[in-house]
Amino acid sequence: MSADWEVGRCERDGDYAVLRDLLCEAFAVSPEQVTPREVIGPENFRAVRRGGEIVGGLALLPMGQFFGGRSVRMTGVAAVATRPESRGGGAARVLLERVLAEMHADGVPISTLYPATLALYRRAGYEVAGVESTLTIAPGAIDTRDRMLTARMATAEDTDAIRGVYAVDAPRMNGMLDRSATIWYRVGERRGQQTMPYVFEHDGRIEGYAYVMTEPIPDKLARVRVNDMALATPAAARRLLTFLADYRTIRSTITWRSSPADPLLPLLREAIYELGHVTPWMTRIVHVERALAARGYPPGRSAELHFEVIDEQIGGNVGRWVLRVADGVGLVERGGAGTLRLHVRGLAGLYTGYLAPRVLVDLGLAEGPAEALAAAEAVFAGPIPWMRDAF
Ligand SMILES: CC(C)(COP(=O)(O)OP(=O)(O)OC[C@H]1O[C@@H](n2cnc3c(N)ncnc32)[C@H](O)[C@@H]1OP(=O)(O)O)[C@@H](O)C(=O)NCCC(=O)NCCS
Repeated sequence: MSADWEVGRCERDGDYAVLRDLLCEAFAVSPEQVTPREVIGPENFRAVRRGGEIVGGLALLPMGQFFGGRSVRMTGVAAVATRPESRGGGAARVLLERVLAEMHADGVPISTLYPATLALYRRAGYEVAGVESTLTIAPGAIDTRDRMLTARMATAEDTDAIRGVYAVDAPRMNGMLDRSATIWYRVGERRGQQTMPYVFEHDGRIEGYAYVMTEPIPDKLARVRVNDMALATPAAARRLLTFLADYRTIRSTITWRSSPADPLLPLLREAIYELGHVTPWMTRIVHVERALAARGYPPGRSAELHFEVIDEQIGGNVGRWVLRVADGVGLVERGGAGTLRLHVRGLAGLYTGYLAPRVLVDLGLAEGPAEALAAAEAVFAGPIPWMRDAF
């Protein structure tokens, strides 16, 4: 049946317009709220056609994602949508299958996405591999008062320094994006509304930044949304909290993307915040060999793991692999004893550190002796993976 479908690029203006309309219908947004085509890159759209007619599409977002302190090349998948009248007919399944085959052929190690439905992506080999949640706090509840750093509004000249702060902060947390131009574009605006950039500096050196915006709430004081932040030093973190506390007379709440692993949480003297709107993201190990070799591992830990990978869709992943870890680096080769049998979805959860091997066994995604499970846990375990972006 899948032979009837054609999956390909979507570079002609008319084709793109069809795709954009599909997207607007699916996500109930206006064309102005969609990230512009030239930002994403016309070459990054894929359409699925039947009888020459476009029935669905998606956008590929090539970037990286940090695991174990190293940036792993990652292709994000966004804006997956099919025509309302074609849904349930297999278009999305075929589209994903072909796009993943293309990524594997290009040597892309992993792919990550925010799912609207888990079932569709599980079928394609993705598994929940991290979460993003929203922290809400009243500015009056933040009791940090530290103005050692200067806060000021950023200008275009600060762009490199801002990105430099992100480059210091992001690799410290598992799951953060190694951002592309598209992701940075979305830092600067949210659903068509501009965000305001502020920097925190000391002796002319920028140590932290925040992009904030005000969101009105009917009949109440408005809310501040911190659309993005990065903090290279503890002083910058304290200055940001002070900056947010200074909204206490004029804003009801402050929100930002957070996680139980958010390093800002231990700086709050009281736990008077809510961590809600938990949104899972899913990862697909697209290229087992490259993925295992690309991430960082705990320094000072040596291990030799023997995997047998099951993957119904990508033949190049299937079979036995040996991972040798030493000095924070992983070397991968074919062969070995296949002691730890892992479905590729189980490998995704293990890889990001989100799911412990024992949990994977309970889920039917892994099988192996206790020593092999413990060895895998020691190599992949880390703080809960999360990110400050949604796409
Ligand atoms: C989700 C969506 C892309 C699926 O496209 P589709 O062409 O209908 O999907 P397929 O026919 O290939 O079905 C593949 C699997 O997706 C899941 N699925 C399909 N339609 C679904 C729906 N409306 N809601 C939830 N899951 C759905 C099912 O698990 C299905 O497998 P199954 O039929 O064997 O159970 C489509 O329904 C859509 O455009 N929805 C609105 C936008 C959206 O939610 N996008 C996802 C953003 S991450």
